[in-house]
Amino acid sequence: MHLIDAKDLNKTQIETLFELAENYKAQPWQTEVLKHKIVSLLFFENSTRTRCSFEIAAKRLGAAVLNLDLAASSMQKDESLLDTIQTLEAMDVDAFVVRHKEEDTCRYIVDNLKTKASVLNARSGTQTHPSQALLDAFTIYERKPDFENLSIAIVGDIRHSRVAHSNIHFLKVLGVKDLRLVGPEIFLPKQDLDCKTYTDFGSGIKDADVVMVLRIQKERMADTDVPDAGSYFKNYGLTPEKLKLAKPDAIVMHPGPMNRGVEISTKVADGSQSIILQQVQNGVFMRQALLDWLVK
Ligand code: CP
Repeated sequence: MHLIDAKDLNKTQIETLFELAENYKAQPWQTEVLKHKIVSLLFFENSTRTRCSFEIAAKRLGAAVLNLDLAASSMQKDESLLDTIQTLEAMDVDAFVVRHKEEDTCRYIVDNLKTKASVLNARSGTQTHPSQALLDAFTIYERKPDFENLSIAIVGDIRHSRVAHSNIHFLKVLGVKDLRLVGPEIFLPKQDLDCKTYTDFGSGIKDADVVMVLRIQKERMADTDVPDAGSYFKNYGLTPEKLKLAKPDAIVMHPGPMNRGVEISTKVADGSQSIILQQVQNGVFMRQALLDWLVK
């Protein structure tokens, strides 16, 4: 089985993954689950959280991990992506965890597999980062499980964020009715995602239960479109004063990497309402759940 797009998962499947993640949180090391399986990590773009958490997840389940150094691989001698995949398939790789800048790379790999290997999207294109959105939803569920009655504000560069698009999908499937997208016009999505949009930060986060902050994805926009960091922080950076507009028990999330002093202040990032490092921790449990569900 594969994980290509957040939209491929329904509510029952998301809840199954929550149960599996809870199981791995209670007992992280279960090395019989993927014993004698090989998981290959193919990261064509940089990563800290996703790459390391998939590697730790696979090792906790007993898999052998093949972390291909693409810069030192024969792709540098113009070997194609498909020839690389098929070479690894010939060595009995059971799962490919893939990060790539192109939207359709994971589906392209799936369509051309010669074996029953699984493909897991570790973020691709500008639309989808399903494993991150699953761990985010799971982290909310642990603290505020009544999704139907939550107000969730996603703040920042939503237009270029792969996390935001997958999050919007999962949160809607889980029943969130008050889902707000907050940011300057240039960062709001071009397409109608059936969410309320706000360019005014204060109105956007007023009485929110969850404030999810996103980084400006400078690498995905023209230099001329990148806002000045100082004025962006003044208008859209989450500070302790602005956070007071949300509910007193609101939780603050960020998928990382953070740019402190741009979209979030250090006081908020390291403050008592921040659950950013719990997201990182849950990332390993959710990726264990995914590897168990898809590769076992
Ligand atoms: N959230 C996320 O995808 O982080 P990395 O780029 O470090 O994997």
